[in-house]
Amino acid sequence: MKLWGARFRKEENELMEDFNSSFSFDSRLAEKDIIGSLAHVKMLVKCNLLTQSEGEEITEALKEMLADIKTGKLKLEGDFEDIHSFNEITLTKKIGELGKKLHTARSRNDQVAVDLRMYARDEAMEITELLNDLIETLDDKAKKHPSIMPGYTHLQRAQVVTFKHHLLAYKGMFSRDVERLESALEIMNISPLGCGALAGTTHTIDREITAEELGFYSPFENYMDGVSDRDYVLELLSDFSIIMMHLSRLSEELILWSSQEFRFVEIDDNYSTGSSIMPQKKNPDAAELIRGKTGRVYGSLMGMLTVMKGLPLTYNKDMQEDKEMFFDSIDTVKSCIMIMDRMISTLKVNDENMKKSVKGGFLNATEVADYLVSKGMPFRDAHGVVGQIVIYCEDNDKAIEDLSLEEFHKISDMIGEDIYKFIDYDEILNKGIKKLMK
Ligand code: ARG
Repeated sequence: MKLWGARFRKEENELMEDFNSSFSFDSRLAEKDIIGSLAHVKMLVKCNLLTQSEGEEITEALKEMLADIKTGKLKLEGDFEDIHSFNEITLTKKIGELGKKLHTARSRNDQVAVDLRMYARDEAMEITELLNDLIETLDDKAKKHPSIMPGYTHLQRAQVVTFKHHLLAYKGMFSRDVERLESALEIMNISPLGCGALAGTTHTIDREITAEELGFYSPFENYMDGVSDRDYVLELLSDFSIIMMHLSRLSEELILWSSQEFRFVEIDDNYSTGSSIMPQKKNPDAAELIRGKTGRVYGSLMGMLTVMKGLPLTYNKDMQEDKEMFFDSIDTVKSCIMIMDRMISTLKVNDENMKKSVKGGFLNATEVADYLVSKGMPFRDAHGVVGQIVIYCEDNDKAIEDLSLEEFHKISDMIGEDIYKFIDYDEILNKGIKKLMK
């Protein structure tokens, strides 16, 4: 069932009808489509394009449809071209000929543009809320574990850090993700309704009314831009990709940390699975799935960039392809943030094992150099001296703090008894700006 056809001499081919239809996926926009129509009707009445009573009758029917969709009484099914056709045809079935007046001064191009924008706005706001929950969970977990652990560069043990500082690094990332979404929400909040198909309308409508009614800052300045802009979809997909990248890095850490090689954390049974053959296995599936699903969100961003790149102004049917990729990314990002939140809140942190790992790997080597600098040695020379100390330790299978003063003196006589306190792992974190990590 469709809204057009009069100028066609032949029936649409069945395969083409299927190919063209977006109803199976854009039915998600059902409620937004009606909300947009309600604002449109209000404006049409104010601009004398519908009578007061016509406006009331359409409004009442649309509100009923909205309620029926919510309760499931009105089922989003059937042989429709898209959600806009479904709503208009359902309205017309309900109130007769009057329903056909709804589309006055509107095109499906500005209609779909406003629907998707409202949907995206709500979803982006929900995602910021989920991120804020995750940030709080990370903060709670971090504060409970100011314990020391090895910090890595190149996945090689580098310097002592705290588990708290490590987790709070992710708090920083997700906080910027929230800011990015908030900025996108600011930029996208302009109403395309009233732009028509591409060139406005000969009717004297008031786009300010619909913009305000639907919570937009203002109507679009340019009609052609209004109907063809999908920047905000791309911007949100970029933001989602960055969120997924952050989630994926954290997932990777959890996967590593929960391995037998590290044993820094234990992922709760609820978010792990077993192996069908190896009875001892406990696999970090939730973290792996987040890492894997990152690819699909990146894919949507690339897909959508590619869909848009060659399109002449204004609307082209290619743009119908925005929805599936975008909706899938929204669902994916939301579920990944929620799963990560739960995985972190139930995570068992093995403070003792992390502390033990600090002991191997010369994590206080930089501090030995700092010690020598504090005694007056230029840093570059100190770096060389510590290199020799490390070789000595490797050859003798010792940690730096296990060397005797005599052994230290074989390499440098600038080292005194106070070295041991200076390079003690817990003490290190009391020095200079390292205190921040505690
Ligand atoms: N289903 C279409 C879409 O999602 C709605 C807009 C149709 N406009 C048109 N000129 N055929 O893009």
